[in-house]
Amino acid sequence: MTQAARQQTDAATSEFPLPAGVHAEKVMSVRHYTDRLFSFRITRPQSFRFRSGEFVMLGLPNAVKPIFRAYSIASPSWDEELEFLSIKVPDGPLTRHLQKIMPGDTILLRTKPTGTLVLDALTPGSRLWMISTGTGIAPFASIVRDPETYDKFEQVILTHTCREVAELTYGEELARNLAEDPLIGDLVQNRFFHYATATREPYVRTGRITSLIESGRLFEDLCVPAFDPAVDRVMICGSMGMIRDVRALVEKAGLNEGANSAPAEFVVERAFVD
Ligand code: A2P
Repeated sequence: MTQAARQQTDAATSEFPLPAGVHAEKVMSVRHYTDRLFSFRITRPQSFRFRSGEFVMLGLPNAVKPIFRAYSIASPSWDEELEFLSIKVPDGPLTRHLQKIMPGDTILLRTKPTGTLVLDALTPGSRLWMISTGTGIAPFASIVRDPETYDKFEQVILTHTCREVAELTYGEELARNLAEDPLIGDLVQNRFFHYATATREPYVRTGRITSLIESGRLFEDLCVPAFDPAVDRVMICGSMGMIRDVRALVEKAGLNEGANSAPAEFVVERAFVD
């Protein structure tokens, strides 16, 4: 089926006309992790390209002027489908409806991906840190599965901190599948490290990432030196408070903030939906 024909068919499932620049895509699967967190996969328009780490705007076909929210693309750039992670906010304008989606439902996708959590926004270095809380792991799920990441960096470290252990499942499975991936498994061997902590339940490791950085525990556990602007590049994504505090710590270590237009040593993006 051609893209145009597929769009027409999908759009036909909505009772409202499709806004300009928007694709109607089909929900392929949904997985609920906790009463606060779920992931879903949708069909990918053939023409849709993105850089690992970027986000897009998603909405539901439930109004003439649908509400759109930014969602980081969690799937790798070669995936035939697009995967997203979302929190569930009981009275959230989009997520109170989105959390009820089922396979076969329609999702609206604005087709202009963008974002600062991209390799292009960092200057060359040898160790890449991706520091995330909650759904902030999503853009990094894409970046850790991109072979270019391992061309550019010798070591790749993904930290993920959540309140509850069940919220860490997505990242645990990502790390496990990465090691077994036929495309990238060999490449990541002894170079990719997953470091997960819970803050409100017992777990193998506990505590906020900020405390673990400040105490030096993070570096000890991973057997690497503390942040050094000559070596380390850092991407940060998650809650506003975590970003503020980790930003202060990496700046104190001498790293400067970069952007697509002016690459530097660290980049930041909040996990959007709230
Ligand atoms: P905590 O449980 O101690 O608040 P949330 O679900 O609120 O987005 O939080 C996700 C994770 O981010 C939680 O583990 C939370 O820890 C942690 N967190 C929240 N604020 C900060 C902060 N300022 N610095 C470091 N970690 C934080």
